[in-house]
Amino acid sequence: MESQNLDRRLQLRLVAEPATLKVLVRLRSGSTQSLDTKKHMRNDSSLFSATATKCSCFAANSPLIRCLRVFAWMFVVWNCHCSTEFGWDRAAHSSAPAFAINQRLGRGINILSLDPIWRDRARGWFKPEYFKLIRDAGFNHVRINLTPFGDNPGFAQGTNALRKEYLETLDWAIDSALAEGLLVIIDFHEFTLLGENPDAYKAAFLKTWEILAERLKNRPSGVLFELLNEPNSKLTPELWNQYLRDALAVVRKTNPKRVVIIGPGNWNNIDKLHDLKLPPEDTNIIVTVHYYSPYDFTHQGAAFAGKADKVGIRWGTDDDRRAVISDFDRAQKWAQEQGRPMYLGEFGVFDKAPEPDRTQWLKLVAREAERRGWSWAYWQFARDFIAFDLEKGQWVKSVLDALIPPPPPEQPAQPQ
Ligand code: GLC
Repeated sequence: MESQNLDRRLQLRLVAEPATLKVLVRLRSGSTQSLDTKKHMRNDSSLFSATATKCSCFAANSPLIRCLRVFAWMFVVWNCHCSTEFGWDRAAHSSAPAFAINQRLGRGINILSLDPIWRDRARGWFKPEYFKLIRDAGFNHVRINLTPFGDNPGFAQGTNALRKEYLETLDWAIDSALAEGLLVIIDFHEFTLLGENPDAYKAAFLKTWEILAERLKNRPSGVLFELLNEPNSKLTPELWNQYLRDALAVVRKTNPKRVVIIGPGNWNNIDKLHDLKLPPEDTNIIVTVHYYSPYDFTHQGAAFAGKADKVGIRWGTDDDRRAVISDFDRAQKWAQEQGRPMYLGEFGVFDKAPEPDRTQWLKLVAREAERRGWSWAYWQFARDFIAFDLEKGQWVKSVLDALIPPPPPEQPAQPQ
């Protein structure tokens, strides 16, 4: 029987075969899994609408039964494909909205971290025209780093609300980014306090998400929520699994389908992906990791990391490059096994690192992420690790070119 194109991603080859009905799913990775269809087909669209790019169904028996089976299967598959709820925990849901949105996220940059603008619009470092500048440079999204506890005195102690002006500044930032065609990630960046004392700040963490999720519930799908930047310290990977479920449940009350970004514990560390427990039925999730390895190289010269005088550390041997590739391969393997899209939400090198090592590292990390289909965001636009020099009012060219390679110069026309 001939191929049926149900959509661009799904191709079903319906073939007659005696005895059992079996589905072979070829995953993007190239591996082929044989699935017990009765167990997995449930009420579940993910199986076929996802990374399953090719399925071969073998039916059997007489021509009439065969025909009936074929139509029944077409109905089941189509029905599954159209359903909006996914449920197969191990499926790679590559056509789920989270994958499509992750593609749209593409290349991004972290902005507005600890900017005085959150306390007073008139004192902002970040100027309204920077959204266009970011878009024109070739970025597709911004990750807005929010510190609502710090910027709303009394809030985390339960004595106050998020200030009206604070929320209006957030609205302005989202409106301005969207107007330039940038997607927006709302990143809850109070990771230090939550890491130091998770119990004390849990209520304020959930309350913040209740307020933000209600306020932003009618925003387009290009506005994404990131539950918490870099869970760490006392917010252990195990405890984080509980907190993320609680926060996600709060968000889902008002935003049942919005794509939410969640990363593993220990500072969004690739090596903690295996401890991350996400609700399998929720496929509107992108998983994030951060990458600053080797730390002594990326943070050399940074006083806040206790490395003000530890400079001159080189990077770039074949072994150095292989280490990055092997770290990313591990993350990719996990992502494929779990069927989750991947977002590299932070990476960068402090500006005291030697050149050209710094730009070589940036190029390798950005290209290796892209090669695996991950979206990414550079840390960060201004303040430190800068990509844009606020004083000079211009991009740091070496950083920008490493992140977004300029098009090759046009060749002069050859005489005929
Ligand atoms: C971290 C944080 C950010 C910090 C940066 C550089 O992981 O998310 O706040 O400034 O990376 O260390």
